[in-house]
Amino acid sequence: MRERLWVALDVETLKEADGLLERLVGAGPAETIGAKIGSQLFTAAGPAAVETALKRGFAVFLDLKYHDIPNTVAGAVREATRIGVAMLNVHAAGGGAMMRAAAEAATKAAKDFGVARPICLGVTVLTSLDRQELQEVGVTGNVEAHVLRLAERAREVGLDGCVASPQEIRLLRRALGPRWTIVTPGIRPAERSDDQKRVATPAAAIRAGADAIVVGRPITAVPDPKAAAAAILSEIANVWGPETAPQPDRAKGATPPSDTPGPRS
Ligand code: C5P
Repeated sequence: MRERLWVALDVETLKEADGLLERLVGAGPAETIGAKIGSQLFTAAGPAAVETALKRGFAVFLDLKYHDIPNTVAGAVREATRIGVAMLNVHAAGGGAMMRAAAEAATKAAKDFGVARPICLGVTVLTSLDRQELQEVGVTGNVEAHVLRLAERAREVGLDGCVASPQEIRLLRRALGPRWTIVTPGIRPAERSDDQKRVATPAAAIRAGADAIVVGRPITAVPDPKAAAAAILSEIANVWGPETAPQPDRAKGATPPSDTPGPRS
C-alpha cells in the first residue's frame, strides 16, 4: 500500500466529494493520499463515488464494514473488487467463516475480473467506543485483549490487516509482526476529540507502527483541506525521514515513541 493518508469523504453528495478531491490533488507526493468512501457517501451516490475518486487518480478504501452472513459478505466483496477498490473492510466480530469468505472472494474476484486484489481489513473495535459502551454490549473483559483476539482471528482466516485505534497499534504490531497491515482512524492533528474517544496525532500513530491513517473532519471540515492534508503528510514524512514514499518495514520496526497515545480514558 503506497497510500499513507486516507481522507474520509463523509459528505452528502457526489459533487461535494468530487470538489474535495479536486482540492486535494497535489497535496502530497503521488499516490500517498487515497479516498476513503464510507456508508454516507456510498449510500447517497453508490459505485459512482468510487468511479469519481478513481477518475481523479485516487485509490479507494471502501469502508462499508461488512457484517452479514458469509455468502452475502462474499458477494459484496466480489462487487467491491469488480469496481476497483484498493482496500475494503469487514467487521471481525462477524466471525471466522465470514472473514474467510471475504478474503477468498477478494482473491477469486480479482482473478475473474483481472484486477488487483483489494487489501482486506478486519474492523476490531470502533474508535468511537469507550470501555463503558463496550461493557454495555457485553465486552466486559480487557478491551485490548478483545482487540487482539479479533485481529489474530482475522489473520488466521486470511485477512491482510486490521483497522485499529491509536491505543492498540503498538500491541497489534508487536503481536502480529511487520507484514500485518494496520490502518488507524481517530486521528487529530492537535489533541482534541469530538465523537472520537480514542485519538492520536498523525505522528504518534505512525511512530506506534500504523501503516496508514484515516482522517476525516480535520481535513474535510476546515477552510483549506489541501493545506491540512499537506501538513499531515509532512508530519508523516518527518517520522519516516525525507523519502517521499516511506518503506513500510521501517515504520513497522516500531522505534520507541516519545509521544505515544496515552492510556484509554
Ligand atoms: O472525521 P473523522 O476523522 O473522525 O473520521 C474518521 C473516519 O474513520 C470516519 O469515516 C469513520 O467512519 C472511520 N472509522 C472510525 N473508526 C473505525 C473505523 C473507521 O472512525 N474503527
